[in-house]
Amino acid sequence: MTRVALVQHGDVAVILSDNPPVNALSTDVRVGLVQALSQAIADPTTKAIVIACNGKTFFAGADITEFGKPRQPPILQDVIGHIEMAPKPVIAAIHGTALGGGLEVALGAHFRVAVPTAQIGLPEIKLGIFPGGGGTQRLPRLIGPIEALKLILSGDRMPADKALAVGILDQVEEGDPVQIGIAFAHKILAEGRRAIPLSERDDKIASVRADSSVFEVEAAAQLKRRPGQEAPAACVESVRLSFTVSIDEALARDRVRSQALVAGDQSRALRHVFFAERAAAKLPEFAGAVAPRAVRNVAIVGAGTMGGGIAMCFTAAGIPVTLIDATEQGLSAGLERVRNNYATSAKRGSITQSEAGKRLGLISGSTDRDAAVGADVIVEAVFESMELKREIFADLTRKTQAGTILATNTSALDIDDIAAATDRPEDVIGMHFFSPANVMRLLEVVRGAKSGWQAIATAMEVGKVIGKIPVLSGNCDGFIGNRMVAKRSAQVDRLLLEGAMPRDIDSAIKGFGFAMGPLETNDMSGLDIGWSIRKRRGTPFAIADAICARGWFGQKTGQGYYRYEKGDRTPRPNPDADSLILEISEKNHVNRRTIDRAELIERMVFPLINEGARILAEGIALRAGDVDVVWINGYGFPAWRGGPMFYADLVGLKTVVDRLDHFATQTGNADLRPAALLRALANKGASFAEWDKDRLLAQ
Ligand code: COA
Repeated sequence: MTRVALVQHGDVAVILSDNPPVNALSTDVRVGLVQALSQAIADPTTKAIVIACNGKTFFAGADITEFGKPRQPPILQDVIGHIEMAPKPVIAAIHGTALGGGLEVALGAHFRVAVPTAQIGLPEIKLGIFPGGGGTQRLPRLIGPIEALKLILSGDRMPADKALAVGILDQVEEGDPVQIGIAFAHKILAEGRRAIPLSERDDKIASVRADSSVFEVEAAAQLKRRPGQEAPAACVESVRLSFTVSIDEALARDRVRSQALVAGDQSRALRHVFFAERAAAKLPEFAGAVAPRAVRNVAIVGAGTMGGGIAMCFTAAGIPVTLIDATEQGLSAGLERVRNNYATSAKRGSITQSEAGKRLGLISGSTDRDAAVGADVIVEAVFESMELKREIFADLTRKTQAGTILATNTSALDIDDIAAATDRPEDVIGMHFFSPANVMRLLEVVRGAKSGWQAIATAMEVGKVIGKIPVLSGNCDGFIGNRMVAKRSAQVDRLLLEGAMPRDIDSAIKGFGFAMGPLETNDMSGLDIGWSIRKRRGTPFAIADAICARGWFGQKTGQGYYRYEKGDRTPRPNPDADSLILEISEKNHVNRRTIDRAELIERMVFPLINEGARILAEGIALRAGDVDVVWINGYGFPAWRGGPMFYADLVGLKTVVDRLDHFATQTGNADLRPAALLRALANKGASFAEWDKDRLLAQ
């Protein structure tokens, strides 16, 4: 199929790619680019060449679906080499996002122009690889190795104005990208400007070549922040080649390293996450049969930390919010908190002052629930009291019209019990945001037994609109994420009882790749929360309950598992908690033993997998990939390990089953016995990935 057209505009040839949805550089496109380029070079009437794309974006990168499969020629490095060596000026005309291989193509061109809304970036690191199409060699030659390294290691997108300022783009102009490209071509032809390939420039790398100490300091500091990951080190090594060896040698070495990384577990894991996040937001069961309700305005009941954070999510997408609280005092405190958050963001530079003002202007406050009337979606975010929530939902049902979506942000209560307080259970849905709501990307959309498709579709769609990653969950205690956490917490408490100390637990899991350990996290969020949930469930924990009984609730009381200095959140050893742990072990006649890191990790991660399997078997999560998305975006599971279910596939389900059986026997804890689905898949030699595929086919 021809994906690339060659269109003549007088003496300028325009090479136009058309490969929806994002103009990924698939084999067809690479073949087409080379053919069109050869034709344009051979045509004596053509004086300059513009490369541009149809549709919503310039090339958004290599085709990720081709990764891990045998490479089809021409490889991207060669296509770009061909562009760069063209004897006529080549101009890349960019709109949308020039990412990864897309930016590398543009760097192969001799000039780059863009529209103001365009963004550029090299996000390869987020897929566990490095820009192997020559980006690590050409970008340093354009902006210097240190600036190039920063952009490559961040993986972040850069807006057109900034890219112009740092010298990646030559011109930014409003209008049609093709026309801008043609006009630019005429300009350089008229000026007689020489087209110098980046690979032949070394003015920007000369100083680092002479003295690379600043580069090395920057590289070391960046790598220290990313322990355990392969791609960052590969990025550094590759950029280093730009000033230590010839470009031909660097490209040859890049080819080898790039192949090895693509085939590695970390890149496979990150590609899995990329596709799982996109799949999670889709509802295969009814495939768009019911349209979501258009959300033009939202009301939030409860102006606490959560309510305010949720309000900020909607205003960031330009959706007006009415924030409602029962008391004047609660409302003004809530609005003040939001105002302060915006002020901090503006001070940090993450949004502009005027954007902060605009967003704040979209929030109005009220102490009267009648103010929610007319909202398309109402999110209840009051504290976790079933009685209060039922009263609010009953009241809202009376006040609002059928079809108004009534969402609860509960993280612990039964959606069906809440829905039963209304006569419109089809309009009731859970929208479980994670704290801080304006930062965390996960949104669990919790479907009650009677939630209607419109409510489900609206919650999923509006979740996407406000930049969240929505994942559909069935209704059960804890939904997907917290239900799994409960299983890990039970093991953490037992590990403390059996012989581990808080720092052993936290450092083991951080060594695995989590940013924070479970006990540091609990200290931060407040130990009383889990205590009250355990009392409600009737599931006591020997150690955690004893700590709470002393009134040690974590950071807010100055001590929990760790000790905290006033105004400092750094966890320090807490000898009082340590002795209490020893005391409780003794009281329970436990012979404490040394538990090594590998066992600590297995005891904390394998129960997650086990509960994940139960959640899948019960249909609480639609796909194993959804469970991974929840854990990566809501609970700090390292993305480069792919999430608990992908990790299970990697370890092998048979190993997971054997170890769980072993732990169940060793500890006498029947809850550690492998779930039926996990055991069945392991017995068949199957994986969760295969389970997902089978389910998809069955739909
Ligand atoms: N290769 C193959 N497929 C890709 C792709 C790529 N590089 N980039 C996006 N897609 C697919 C997505 O999987 C999705 O497919 P689906 O509709 O079947 O789910 C579709 O294109 C749209 O992508 P989506 O991310 O949902 O659209 P968006 O408008 O929100 O974002 C981008 C567009 C380009 C910003 C975003 O897709 C992106 O960041 N892509 C990856 C860029 C990248 O990493 N490039 C470097 C590759 S080495």
